[in-house]
Amino acid sequence: MSNERSGLTTRSWSRPHATGRASCGGRWLNARSLSRKDHLMEKSVDSTHPDFWTSRYAAGKMPWDFAGVPAALKSFLARSSASGKVLIPGCGSGYEVQAFHEAGYDVTAIDFSPAAVDQAKKVLGVLAERVILGDFFTQNFGQGRFDLIYERTFLCSMPPSRWPDYANRMADLLSPAGRLIGVFLYGQQSESPPYPITDKQVDQLFQRCFRLVRSELVTDSLPLFRGMERWQEWLKIDQA
Ligand SMILES: C[S@@+](CC[C@H](N)C(=O)[O-])C[C@H]1O[C@@H](n2cnc3c(N)ncnc32)[C@H](O)[C@@H]1O
Repeated sequence: MSNERSGLTTRSWSRPHATGRASCGGRWLNARSLSRKDHLMEKSVDSTHPDFWTSRYAAGKMPWDFAGVPAALKSFLARSSASGKVLIPGCGSGYEVQAFHEAGYDVTAIDFSPAAVDQAKKVLGVLAERVILGDFFTQNFGQGRFDLIYERTFLCSMPPSRWPDYANRMADLLSPAGRLIGVFLYGQQSESPPYPITDKQVDQLFQRCFRLVRSELVTDSLPLFRGMERWQEWLKIDQA
């Protein structure tokens, strides 16, 4: 059966219980193609729900996991003055927490999947307390806003219908002249995660609250994201 007919596509991470044929991040089934057993095992095929992610971490199927710090972030940290508060939403394994911490930032990471938070705490050791189990959209982060918010495969983890909430929440959490920085996934629209963004969509999404101050192609993308990732820095702007 061809990939098209079976519902298998490349570049997706919608199926945690992959068969031996499915390489890491290679093939995945969309929700319509899942068997009843898969549905029962998954509890959720909705990427806005923590269960979607927990089942994948539990199965060790994390094709998005970089297992380290992207070169573009290392470059940013080398050229930036290290001060201020940083938030890493949807942190997954949280490798970047240590990089920001070592560069002198006060870093907080959050993920709503308990399995992701467990994984991050294992990775981070003494920095484990930097990771919060919670929902980015509803968590009370206390007083004081963030100077930086770091993005990697978080925006593309949620459907486009959720993106306006993402942009508004980012703007709310950033201090005046704060920046949303990181790796953004660009490409054609998709009906299942990852959901790449188009240039037109990004303009519409960020034009009200942000101005793009840096954009460059990522050179060390995982094979499944190759040619699609851009390091970008979005400066929060005065909406008045
Ligand atoms: C594709 S993974 C990316 C993880 C990590 N950023 C990385 O680059 O490896 C998306 C992550 O976002 C988390 N996530 C999705 N929606 C969330 C939300 N509303 N609040 C907190 N975490 C969320 C998921 O649990 C998952 O760990």
